[in-house]
Amino acid sequence: MKKTFAAIQITILLAMLSLPSKLFAQSTNTVYLDPKQPVEARVKDLLSRMTLDEKIGQMTQVDKDAVINNKSDIVKYFMGSILSGGDSDIGDNKTVTWANLYDSLQSYALQTRLKIPIIYGIDAVHGNNNIYGATIFPHNIGMGCTRDTSLVKEEGRVTSEELAATGINWTFAPCIAVVRNERWGRTYEGFGESTDLVSEFGAAEIEGFQGDTLSGHMSILACAKHYLGDGGTFNGIDQGNTVDDEATIRKLFLPPYISAIKAGVGSVMASYSSINGQKMHGSKYWLTDVLKDELGFKGFIVSDWSAIDQLGSNFEDDVDKSINAGIDMVMLPMKYKEFYKAMNVLVSTGKIPMSRIDDAVSRILTIKFELGLFEKHFADRSLIDSVGSFSHRQVARQCVRESLVLLKRKDGVLPIPKENTRILVAGDHADNVGYQCGGWTITWQGKGGNLTPGTTILQGMFAAAPNDKIVYSENGDFSNTKADYSVVVIGEKPYAEGRGDASDLNLSKSDIDLIKKMKSYGNPVVVILISGRPMILEPILHFSDAIIAAWLPGTEGEGISDVLFGDYAPKGRLSHSWLKSMSQLPINVGDSVYHPLFPYGYGITTFNNSTKGSAPVILSAIVKKDGKHIELTFNKPMSDISLNGEDFKLNKNGLPIKEMIEPYIKKDDNTTIILSVSKGFADNDTVSVSYNSGKVKAADGGLLEHFEGFKIYNWVSN
Ligand code: GLC
Repeated sequence: MKKTFAAIQITILLAMLSLPSKLFAQSTNTVYLDPKQPVEARVKDLLSRMTLDEKIGQMTQVDKDAVINNKSDIVKYFMGSILSGGDSDIGDNKTVTWANLYDSLQSYALQTRLKIPIIYGIDAVHGNNNIYGATIFPHNIGMGCTRDTSLVKEEGRVTSEELAATGINWTFAPCIAVVRNERWGRTYEGFGESTDLVSEFGAAEIEGFQGDTLSGHMSILACAKHYLGDGGTFNGIDQGNTVDDEATIRKLFLPPYISAIKAGVGSVMASYSSINGQKMHGSKYWLTDVLKDELGFKGFIVSDWSAIDQLGSNFEDDVDKSINAGIDMVMLPMKYKEFYKAMNVLVSTGKIPMSRIDDAVSRILTIKFELGLFEKHFADRSLIDSVGSFSHRQVARQCVRESLVLLKRKDGVLPIPKENTRILVAGDHADNVGYQCGGWTITWQGKGGNLTPGTTILQGMFAAAPNDKIVYSENGDFSNTKADYSVVVIGEKPYAEGRGDASDLNLSKSDIDLIKKMKSYGNPVVVILISGRPMILEPILHFSDAIIAAWLPGTEGEGISDVLFGDYAPKGRLSHSWLKSMSQLPINVGDSVYHPLFPYGYGITTFNNSTKGSAPVILSAIVKKDGKHIELTFNKPMSDISLNGEDFKLNKNGLPIKEMIEPYIKKDDNTTIILSVSKGFADNDTVSVSYNSGKVKAADGGLLEHFEGFKIYNWVSN
């Protein structure tokens, strides 16, 4: 049938009217492309131009490995976001290579019809930690111990600068988990166990990342994670179930998000975990009713890695549940074709209303406009030299210094003199950048070795005290064991997420044996613990004269020698209660029954010795291998003139022992009183000691005060 000209005109007109309005209005006065227009107007204008497929694209986040070999799919599926997961590195992993990657991927996004730029996310959780040569900061557990929010804000700023150099404009940080059980493999990613501490530090780091305005030259988008209750799961099981009444859950875990929203956080990541059996990724109540409606969160919610797959029996249901619950962007990170298909079905069948899609896309576009992504498309290569720069590393070094917690110190031990001091150094964590950085460093799980430029603890010691005689043996084997100090650096090997979940927080037998071996040389022993959480120390208390919790300090090992040699006093205070045994977990400040080895907030913050004439303090006690000698070690030399067998009461398995006790000062260690007994103890006896005579004195006259039931560690079988 021959159509009249008028009929053809009408057909074209109808066709045009059926398309989103202003589809062809690419004139220079296009509102969404005009940075002078208010963000709200730009979002409204752009949204009105978008097709469903283009909207679905904005809700799609893929790992770069999903598209690195078929970048045209970025255009085809109108992709809105790309990420690099913990192991998703590129080539030589250097900054310029990352900048080239970002620019290349962005150039594809800008080929789409509406030229909507991608937002690129990465886990820069303690510096720009995937990138070779980046400054690696202490993990958050150490930052929490600094009690210095201005410092964590500065960490955020430095990290943002090192990210901006690569073009990447979004970090999946800070982790604002309130960590209630140190069995959890992600304990170190959180600032601590206290809701208030986490709230303060999370907000401060968000301000550091996002700057005064998101459009700032080096501002990057922060991401408060993992909403909600990720640190409160039963037994600290990663991705587990947080069980409690709603009031307690709100009181413990919500305040850090309220603070984060107040600090302007632009994105929130949902948690894999559940609350009272409901998966967070499927909880409309917590994601929409509480976070968006009640708390007024205006940014967007991103899912965790493949997390929606855990929701149901098939992917389409997963998408249905998660999007309708309030997830705005899905970290697929590979299944973008399936997502595209599922979304089209769910929208066409009305299961996902267009209003939900528009809400999600508006939130994402708002952030993109606020970040200035439509104006600054590519990496700022002028910042490349700032990555791992001396000034940045000095900031990280200060973080290391201030994160260290001095847990134990006998009078006269520390700081180590810088002149003519012979120091034996041992332990597999003394000269290993990878170990001191921990997980989320270059690779997802982290690993040992010199995997990125940094200063090991040992190198820091050599640099700090060139006039000392420092000798290193990883296994503690020295031709000459006579020295002024022994320093032993031990601890946990790197891990991340669930692979770090632990049912046993004891030190390894090899670490304990090494410390005992070093103590047998007769020198004062300084133990430096590299770990992602408090660990059980009772077995080594007696063989150490000082103990420093150094957490996971990152690349700047010199921050430790700064304190070791007294250039800076120790400053850190525990952000976690320190357990005595596994049976105590969970143990948190405020518990009705609370007997940690060291309490939340504890830390020795001076190198001053105890005041002359002050009461001596018992620091440790053991039953020796023969079962017949008990050693009680104090913080300072004791006097032997006043010792009397009646002074001490020993208890075995809950019952007082009647036999004669003969006390005397240990030869060549006058800080130790030995109690010799005839019958002795067996290896599984529970032993404790009490004192209440009021006669025993320290060498400086200080009177020993009463103490009851001090636990004695039983070494009979070791
Ligand atoms: C991981 C983590 C999350 C991280 C994301 C992307 O599984 O749970 O913290 O941001 O995937 O790497």
